[in-house]
Amino acid sequence: MNKPRLTLDDPASFLAWLAGVRKRGSVSLDEVDVAQVFAIAGVAALARLEGKERLLVEEATQNAARFAHAIGFEEVVGGEQPSAPGEADRTVKLTRVKGRGPWEPTAEKIVSLLFPSSTGDASRHLFKHVLVELLRNVGQHSNDPLGGIVTAQRNDAGPYVHSPVVQVVVVDNGIGVFEALRHMRPSIKTPAEALVRALEPHVSGAFEEGQSGSGENAGLGLFFVSEFAKETDGRLFLASRGATYFLDRSQSSETQPVLTNGVAPDYPGTLVAFETAIAHVGSFDGIMAHIRDLAMARMPKRITQNWLRFEAPPPEALHILVAVASEDTAAAQAYSMNVLQPRLLERRSIALDFRNMRVCTQSFLHALLHQAVRLAWALKVPMFVVNAAPAVRAQLELVEAYSLGG
Ligand SMILES: Nc1ncnc2c1ncn2[C@@H]1O[C@H](COP(=O)(O)OP(=O)(O)OP(=O)(O)O)[C@@H](O)[C@H]1O
Ligand SMILES: [Mg+2]
Repeated sequence: MNKPRLTLDDPASFLAWLAGVRKRGSVSLDEVDVAQVFAIAGVAALARLEGKERLLVEEATQNAARFAHAIGFEEVVGGEQPSAPGEADRTVKLTRVKGRGPWEPTAEKIVSLLFPSSTGDASRHLFKHVLVELLRNVGQHSNDPLGGIVTAQRNDAGPYVHSPVVQVVVVDNGIGVFEALRHMRPSIKTPAEALVRALEPHVSGAFEEGQSGSGENAGLGLFFVSEFAKETDGRLFLASRGATYFLDRSQSSETQPVLTNGVAPDYPGTLVAFETAIAHVGSFDGIMAHIRDLAMARMPKRITQNWLRFEAPPPEALHILVAVASEDTAAAQAYSMNVLQPRLLERRSIALDFRNMRVCTQSFLHALLHQAVRLAWALKVPMFVVNAAPAVRAQLELVEAYSLGG
């Protein structure tokens, strides 16, 4: 019998194989021919020594097992951090991630290893953005006491020789998307519906006509990740208790995502794998502007007045270096409450300086600015923005649009 190849060409093979392995309660990587990092991370999470759904790992020596060993499989399963970060320009070792962040330093470490030179800036920014969103989701939504596992791989061998790809995966054995979402959205009745909704803009932002978003999340994380896959001829595989979703634009930009609900084997937790051909990434600023436009087109109302001003602030403005709190949503929210909002209430000027921030997620900006922008509008006190890269400006325009648009 042919051994399965656990690659993103056919992620269903991975789930089918995993279903057999789970029934047995033990796993041997010698049963498979090739396993890409997304599959190895998925197995490692389930094999964690202290895990509830624990798989026993059998000794194995062939290709896939050797690769798993090289990227720190045994260490991560045993609860240790890998002794080295990985191989520059090639693989990032399996790494456990736990807690509620901040995620920016972990994401930065991973992209620095995968993109050691400054060439390919666009894909580097894009991957960093994806990593921050996925890591944050584990911390905020998975409820997995063991946290998640992350790894990434650059592949320019075999079928990828003419078009090298980078693949990242973040996986947990937590409650899954359906369970996480349905309390907030009782109208969602199935895991498949939950996955589709999770990929839509503003799913957790309470963004319905007449409302305008909640405190902590914008509900835009997975929307951005899936739009990145679409925009770069990439792939997004999402498997989460009861449903799977697979978007594969590497073949044709017309390919429709495949969604399964209940019938196919699924993953006991949430596994998100993202892959893209580095050469297809193009302009990061262009992609961000495009996604901003897509998100804005779905908003109930457009705003005309701008309370975020992209112009020189008055000299008395309080100058705030935003990078200090980069991607730390809790710090951003606290800063908004303790500094920005009181200052606006006193009708005093604020200058937000975005220097040194090339990647900036909606969740972070939401935590920092959602309430402040609404206050700025109510009090008619503009906030000034300086040194924002075009991609960051696009994100800022989006926050203002939905904060004032409901
Ligand atoms: N690892 C996960 N485990 C369980 N549920 C998840 C996981 N990742 C995402 N979800 C669910 O999918 C929803 C959508 O995720 P998404 O990242 O798009 O938005 P968000 O996290 O709510 O907001 P934002 O990312 O803008 O802060 C989440 O609200 C959550 O219910
Ligand atoms: Mg999120």
